[in-house]
Amino acid sequence: MDADTFREFGKAAVDFIADYYENIRNCDVLPSVEPGYLINQLPKELPENPQKWQEILKDVGKLIVPGLTHWQSPNFHAYYSIGCSYPSIVGDILANGFGVMGFSWISSPASTELEMVVMDWLAKFFKLPAHFLHSTKGPGGGIIQGSASEAILIAVMVAREQAVRRVKAAQPELSEGEIRARLVGYSSDQSNCCVEKAGILGALPLRLVAVDESRVFNGTQLAKAVKEDLAKGLIPAICVATMGATDTCSYDDIESLGTVCEAHNIWLHVDAAYAGCALALDEYAHLRQGLDRVDSLNYNPHKTLPINFECTAMWVRDSHKIVESFTVKRMYLQHKYEGQSDIPEFRHWQIPLGRRFRALKVWVAFRTLGAEGLREYIRLRIRLAERFEQYVLADSRFELFAKRAMGLVCFRVKGGNELSTELLKRLTDHKKIYMVQAIFQGKNFLRFVVCGVEPKECDIDFAWQEIQSQLSQLLSEHEVAKLKVNAPEEKKAEESHKKSVKVQ
Ligand SMILES: Cc1ncc(COP(=O)(O)O)c(C=O)c1O
Repeated sequence: MDADTFREFGKAAVDFIADYYENIRNCDVLPSVEPGYLINQLPKELPENPQKWQEILKDVGKLIVPGLTHWQSPNFHAYYSIGCSYPSIVGDILANGFGVMGFSWISSPASTELEMVVMDWLAKFFKLPAHFLHSTKGPGGGIIQGSASEAILIAVMVAREQAVRRVKAAQPELSEGEIRARLVGYSSDQSNCCVEKAGILGALPLRLVAVDESRVFNGTQLAKAVKEDLAKGLIPAICVATMGATDTCSYDDIESLGTVCEAHNIWLHVDAAYAGCALALDEYAHLRQGLDRVDSLNYNPHKTLPINFECTAMWVRDSHKIVESFTVKRMYLQHKYEGQSDIPEFRHWQIPLGRRFRALKVWVAFRTLGAEGLREYIRLRIRLAERFEQYVLADSRFELFAKRAMGLVCFRVKGGNELSTELLKRLTDHKKIYMVQAIFQGKNFLRFVVCGVEPKECDIDFAWQEIQSQLSQLLSEHEVAKLKVNAPEEKKAEESHKKSVKVQ
């Protein structure tokens, strides 16, 4: 493809996406396809001859779009939101266009330095402790990882390596293998599935401590678990706390967890993948409590800021610990400035060697919206969730399951799990809105999350009308079914009543 054709194709693709967003409300949020729909329509071999971009773009509309679940639709209310915005898309186009790798400073100085800048901007926007900033010139700093899962896995592996070094120094008679076999970590049973997976991948078993009705994991629970494990000869290495858990957006008590972690040399990581955005708002300033005790922290701008997937901000208090745990040296990676300045070689802070120029989309989006625009982006989603919460409270057939938090409302139909599950099934089959359910202590509940590129009040009203109308239909069908079941009994009762009247 030559540059002129690229210009035409690229412009047509941008128009295609702009049209997609302008019409997104006209599509059912869930696609109407069956498994295998695409595989059965595409050739089994890659085409031998070149094809025209016009044909390819036409097929995107004809074959790909019908199989999309529209995550950016304002009628998508499942999981947690995935950020997206025009400026971020343009930033990603530019980054893809440059096609650079930023695994070392020399491999693309702009990548590394822009990443340092935007990570510091974000840390200041959240008012994080100064030791997380590159500009503080201490050992701390921020990096953009691909996902929260990756950031947590890295935290688990660093904690593991640090614990092995620490114990080996204190008890040289123990072999590394013996130490590794005794390591243990902690999180709550409300933490995201990726935390448990990080324990599996990182060969460090994580105990998922069961929390009570408050769903908050705190220092008392951690201290108890640690005491039990120390008595068994285990070595506590990491605690992963959550700020905004996936099921109900509950917040762990970072301050009290921090106290226990400090007492036992436990690495404290905070997963703030979704709700970390609250740190940008002074009305949520209390959530910053305890962050000065944290060793590492992740937040996903690709969830609650207008930044496209993938983009996970990760800050570490002491990057030397990461670097000494993961550094692998090769001559072909050396350059004359390495180790000569405060500039990190980000490849040591992550799993892959290669790294995308993710900072570009962040920089473009942050500059386009400005800090106030970003705050309003977060607040709009909170306001819309409040609107939905009011609807739930006003309808006596429903109850809130948990306190609303950020853009998430957890609710259920009064009267048992089956009704909520059946309601969700009907909503999903109807495809107008999309939610998922979760369970806590045997009770199912529905999760309504404000998502989409540009959600509006009318979208919340649309969702609520759909929920109400599906529930009304469900309840009236239940009534009819109940009448049918009871009908023979009622007929018998009626006849015997008639007989008794005659006898009198
Ligand atoms: C609290 C929390 N942590 C971690 C994750 C996983 O995020 P990622 O897909 O970036 O790995 C999620 C996903 O929704 C989440 O809600």
